[in-house]
Amino acid sequence: MRYENLLIDFEKGIATVTVNRPKALNALNRRTMQELNYLFAQDLPKREGLKGVVLTGAGDKSFVAGADIKEFLDLDAAQGEAMARYGHETFNLIERFARPVVAAVNGFALGGGCELAMACHLRLAAPQARFGQPEVNLGIIPGYGGTQRLIQYIGKGNAMELLLTADMIDAETAHRLGLVNRVVPQADLLAEAHALVEKIAAKGPLAVAKIIELVQAYYRHDVDGFAEEIKAFGYTTGTQDFQEGARAFVEKRKPIFKGK
Ligand code: CAA
Repeated sequence: MRYENLLIDFEKGIATVTVNRPKALNALNRRTMQELNYLFAQDLPKREGLKGVVLTGAGDKSFVAGADIKEFLDLDAAQGEAMARYGHETFNLIERFARPVVAAVNGFALGGGCELAMACHLRLAAPQARFGQPEVNLGIIPGYGGTQRLIQYIGKGNAMELLLTADMIDAETAHRLGLVNRVVPQADLLAEAHALVEKIAAKGPLAVAKIIELVQAYYRHDVDGFAEEIKAFGYTTGTQDFQEGARAFVEKRKPIFKGK
């Protein structure tokens, strides 16, 4: 697939993905959703030596200002449901991606934009970032996981307030509530996000992938996270990486993990 609305910069094993529709504040139109789906399902898994992904928005005003409202006109109920289903599938690909995905939130993260940031494993925000789920202003609800993931990050009471009032919160408030991991100066945002990916890339990759899976398992109703942890611990102890990690500790050197 040729990317029209995403810029992909692959350097030193880190894919920096920029949603690039600045005239629409990087709103997620159908094409952009298809590109994100293809990127995480088909493209990134095939990239040799991928350490992780940094996701951001073009310009200094907006990360992603939501789904593209201009495509909503004339949408009927069946089309709306199909759109939400595809959005869930796409954001689940991000949430379940085996390498770390860090959102570098450089401005508005509203509606589908807040939902996109929440599907990432970690979120760094610039001071001017703004978060919100303004869908009720349009007479709809969040359709890309917002009613569920927001509760996971900020709790039921806070989520209920943001979802019902459509209020926007600033980066510091988002940090205080647990929606973002850190607020960093705009000028350092991408560098900090890359540093975070690098830090995680130095750890055992099979263990990292299992942790991503297990933390999500806590929120799933179809698996027992505790039982999954027991199995996954067994799996990681059986890897060559664990042999290397333990040996490196005893030999007082840095481990060289191979993902085996
Ligand atoms: N879809 C389409 N276009 C959008 C957009 C969106 N979500 N958000 C902004 N734009 C466009 C505007 O229409 C405008 O384009 P034109 O110049 O062609 O008119 C351009 O981006 C700049 O926007 P504004 O002039 O509105 O900029 P502002 O600084 O005055 O306001 C803003 C910024 C507060 C983010 C405002 O643009 C806004 O409220 N945007 C909509 C946010 C929203 O409601 N998002 C939720 C969408 S629904 C959703 O996401 C459902 C879901 O869960 C899947």
